[in-house]
Amino acid sequence: MKVGSLTLRNPLIAASGCFGYGTEYADVIDLSMLGGIAVKGLFLAEREGHPPPRIVETPAGMLNAIGLQGIGVHRFIAEKMPELRARGAVVIVNICGTTIQEYVELSRILSDVEGVAALELNISCPNIKEGGNVVRAVRAVTHLPVIPKLTPNVTDVSSIAKAAEEAGADAVSLVNTFLAMAIDVETRRPRLSNIVGGLSGPAIRPIAVRMVYECRQAIGIPIIGMGGIATAADVLEFIIAGASAVQVGTANFADPLIWPKLLDGVLDYLGRHKIAAISHLTGTIDTSAREKEWISS
Ligand SMILES: Cc1cc2nc3c(=O)[nH]c(=O)nc-3n(C[C@H](O)[C@H](O)[C@H](O)COP(=O)(O)O)c2cc1C
Repeated sequence: MKVGSLTLRNPLIAASGCFGYGTEYADVIDLSMLGGIAVKGLFLAEREGHPPPRIVETPAGMLNAIGLQGIGVHRFIAEKMPELRARGAVVIVNICGTTIQEYVELSRILSDVEGVAALELNISCPNIKEGGNVVRAVRAVTHLPVIPKLTPNVTDVSSIAKAAEEAGADAVSLVNTFLAMAIDVETRRPRLSNIVGGLSGPAIRPIAVRMVYECRQAIGIPIIGMGGIATAADVLEFIIAGASAVQVGTANFADPLIWPKLLDGVLDYLGRHKIAAISHLTGTIDTSAREKEWISS
């Protein structure tokens, strides 16, 4: 299937930061049966990330403040890409920069690497406010599909999506995690060493679905939706709200074998509803029926 200029095996992509560099899961699951793999966010250089505790379980979700720990782009290309290529993975490289120049440099380097299918730009980093400028600068130096990943920590996500589209994005992915915190009341200390972190998992799903729906009204480019997907019905909810494909993050930690189950559930739904291709389902939410029900009740 196609998402803009990106070709995927199916609509299910492993979300960045929740599937390592892909190679860690190669013995658990056939990487070539995933729609794609968004690898852990990469900077130019290696990074250590935050000290522990970096993860806290919360009701219907988790909080993390990993601090974008990573091996850096050069080690990724040398140590991970050969295996990802050999295993037939569709590799989406998630990149992160502290300056626009760093995004540009990363994009240049990765554009020449065989087997990289797309660039996902993590423009949720706190130091980078001008997401549109990042997209425009990256667009100018790469032939790869450019997919900015949007933060939900804004008042109006659809205006950010619109800016990304105008800057030349091929698609947008949303959402990243929600800024959140948890406190141990006995010690009165924050549960994360970084004090605040990002909330993910089923707790955020209804908000993420609403954001995908809002962005679908505002932009013409495809949307890759995510946030708390754990079942096939969750996948379908995002697609019906307006996503062309989805990513699954936190649920993969609980069940790394979730992928065939999600895919089977989606195929079963398409069969039952006599829908020839999942692309026919994108954005098909029927709001008029809901309005009528409401008026008549
Ligand atoms: C432990 C952890 C690490 C993450 N690391 C990244 C990252 O490096 N880059 C990024 O763009 N998103 C990162 N994310 C966000 C996820 O890709 C995803 O947007 C978010 O978790 C919502 O999806 P989910 O509820 O299915 O997990 C991370 C999430 C978690 C839980």
